[in-house]
Amino acid sequence: MPAKEYLMIPGPTPVPPQVSAAMSRPIGGHRTDEFARIHQGIVEKLKTVFQTQNDIFVLTHSGTGGMETAVANTVNPGDKVLALVTGNFGERFAKIARAYGALVDEVDFGWGKDVDLAVVEEKLKANPDYKAVLATQNETSTGVTNDIAGIGALVAKTPALLLVDGISGVGGIEIKTDAWGVDVLITASQKAMMLPPGLAMVAVSKKAWEAVEKCRSPRFYFSLPAAKKAVEKWNTAYTPGVSLFYGLEAALELMMAEGMDNVYARHGLLARAVRAAVRALGLTLLPEERCASNTVTAIHGPDGVGADELRKVLKNRYGVVFAGGQGILKGKIFRIAHMGYAGKTDVLVAVGALEMALAELGYPAELGRGMKAAQEVFLGGSD
Ligand SMILES: Cc1ncc(COP(=O)(O)O)c(C=O)c1O
Repeated sequence: MPAKEYLMIPGPTPVPPQVSAAMSRPIGGHRTDEFARIHQGIVEKLKTVFQTQNDIFVLTHSGTGGMETAVANTVNPGDKVLALVTGNFGERFAKIARAYGALVDEVDFGWGKDVDLAVVEEKLKANPDYKAVLATQNETSTGVTNDIAGIGALVAKTPALLLVDGISGVGGIEIKTDAWGVDVLITASQKAMMLPPGLAMVAVSKKAWEAVEKCRSPRFYFSLPAAKKAVEKWNTAYTPGVSLFYGLEAALELMMAEGMDNVYARHGLLARAVRAAVRALGLTLLPEERCASNTVTAIHGPDGVGADELRKVLKNRYGVVFAGGQGILKGKIFRIAHMGYAGKTDVLVAVGALEMALAELGYPAELGRGMKAAQEVFLGGSD
């Protein structure tokens, strides 16, 4: 029999049975009172998750479509934009802005490092003509969480908009959209939101709307004014992923029932357990603990064992699927996701399988050390 699969990559992530069941109900029309009721309920709950009073749009495309929506509606050709890059997805945000003709000032803080606020402050002071700042809440490629509150406080003193990619953070790591001055926040369905891929969610501030209305960039499918007009009747401009909306309603109900503070605390606990296990096995994290993500942990390939070789053994022999490195980190790191529909037992499965795979590959780690460290974190001992 093939091994049962334990998907622990940072998206797509496992989907709770309640969400799968909701998505399998008979499809309904989207120009109906029933759809409008579901849509409205979803947006109200998303406001709690995003901590915002801003407009929220649920759009049928992947997260990158959400990033493009943010750029296409606020950035004009020739605009000066500051891109804060800490990995693959920060680079992608910069590329999208460049594709729309922006003059992108790209600051690379290093893969595995977080954004240095002193550099941001300096850049903003030296360039009062930035129209937008692009930031990544949680850089999935490196397992780093950036200080969006800190960045937001700096950008709020300027006329620039703050566009934040929260795709692998929102729903697992707290973000205070309004309090932190995030003008456009983007997330996607297939990460901490516990759905299959296919939806992006985008929140737009009043300050951002002023730019949207004056924006000269071409847009059609990604048009926010078109989305806004439709949402006034709890409709969508084009045919939405109706089944995904059913699933999103169910996923948000689960999140509301758990309570967002508990959701964030659970993600923090799982991340601490994974980090403790990794340390106990003598492995090293890519980022400093201080900025290590609560939704995905990036770990250097063990000495003498390739990161991808390790992943192969984990997948083929134990059904445990971790992600590899991206871009310049390809083959150098592996990543364990603990986001969305994830609990303590998932971590124990991952750590137990990791120990066995390491042993098989001749890495000198004592069996059970990682498990003990994770279990102690769960039982409230040392971490
Ligand atoms: C931080 C971040 N930004 C953007 C993306 C791209 O999203 P999608 O693959 O849904 O287009 C991802 C997906 O892995 C991500 O983790």
